[in-house]
Amino acid sequence: MIAVTDNSIGYDPFSAEVMANPLPFYAQLRREAPVLFLEKYDSFVFSRFQDIVDVMTTPGNAFVASESTLPTVDTLLRHNHGVVPEVPMDPIPPGPLLGSPHFEVLRTAHMRPFRPTQVRTMASFIQRLCDQRLDALLPGRQFDLTQDYGGFVAAGTICHMFGMPANQAAEVLQLVNDLSRTDKEGGANDVPTIIGTCVAMMIESITRRREAGADGANPLIDGLIGLQYYGRPLSDVEVATQLVCAFIGGTETVPKIAAHGLMELARHPQQLAEVRADLAGNVPLAVEEMIRFCAPAQWFARTAHRDLTVAGVDVRKGQRVIALFGSAARDEAEFGEADRFIWNRSIDRVLSFGAGPHYCIGIHLARLELKILVETFLRRVGSFSFDMDKAIRLPSSFQWGWNSLPVFAEGA
Ligand code: HEM
Repeated sequence: MIAVTDNSIGYDPFSAEVMANPLPFYAQLRREAPVLFLEKYDSFVFSRFQDIVDVMTTPGNAFVASESTLPTVDTLLRHNHGVVPEVPMDPIPPGPLLGSPHFEVLRTAHMRPFRPTQVRTMASFIQRLCDQRLDALLPGRQFDLTQDYGGFVAAGTICHMFGMPANQAAEVLQLVNDLSRTDKEGGANDVPTIIGTCVAMMIESITRRREAGADGANPLIDGLIGLQYYGRPLSDVEVATQLVCAFIGGTETVPKIAAHGLMELARHPQQLAEVRADLAGNVPLAVEEMIRFCAPAQWFARTAHRDLTVAGVDVRKGQRVIALFGSAARDEAEFGEADRFIWNRSIDRVLSFGAGPHYCIGIHLARLELKILVETFLRRVGSFSFDMDKAIRLPSSFQWGWNSLPVFAEGA
């Protein structure tokens, strides 16, 4: 395959116009320019499902997110000319910036709470959060399904995992929202300052765990405190740095998927009736389609650490690859009628949680939260409809999801 160099389609991940609705751009890219070379960013953009699998699973540290999984426009505008910038190792950077085996050492140190058996133990806690939220929200009949319901449940779960007081959930939610919030032109907030505030909050938890002896009672934090990474322990800031992704990823994505997924069911009354016919049996299947159809993360990047050929195109050391996960989810070659929401669609594989070494550490927790959020809502709410005139889906450089979905809900 030859990469297309003429960007007459006008795709640019940082364009507010594109990110106001990237789907038509993706469809055209998949058809006419499945690998697009963006000269100004020295980057290859992949839009087809199978090509993205090939890119993300290329072995041997060929592609590493050493310039960040989500590089800024300024980073991409600087070309590497065959020399990959080294990642400074002191202080220890976030694991996802590193290749094997460094990345796996850091990931494994806080992997335990994300394993299926550990995640299952959180079911009753999450169920309680969902019920408490609906107890508070349903009497008012009208609320923001993304923020007031899923947002609080996801942020409450993160507080629980981080050993933070439950009443910090609102603050966590606000911070994470500020992080991805953009104005209508796509302008971002002050990301470094917001991340700094997240790190400061996490450091309070890390300090408490050190004082308590970091005996493993909080496996998320204690595993990293106990890690001897190449002969020395991690500082508090270094521990927090490893956890930023879970703090943000764990708060941000699930609420948008749950709210959008329920909105799709409301738009398709026949499908809603079918799901309602057996909630326990059908919701897990419907959740898989929600994850495919509604996942908000649009793209992730890697930098080539050697010359290679992937998905039929030659990539030189120092160039970047941008994988359009948002496009892969709508690839007709993988999903057939991909632009339709079909609750019981048969799905062999998804890319919504990524692929390769960086695939989402929170995959089991995300599925559990979504299942409980959706099932509890459908069990406790008799009828519901959305005020789409007031719904908000802001352009952002990499997230495209319903930031706010006002719902009218009548208790069952
Ligand atoms: C349905 C909800 C979720 C979706 C769709 C999702 C999606 C993703 C994707 C696509 C990646 C890969 C990024 C890349 O390749 O660079 C990722 C990574 C990650 N996710 Fe999620 N995520 C979700 C929920 C969560 C939750 C609940 C948590 C934690 C509480 C979480 C924590 C992480 C972390 C820590 C990583 C980085 C993994 C690593 O590099 O080791 N995510 N997620």
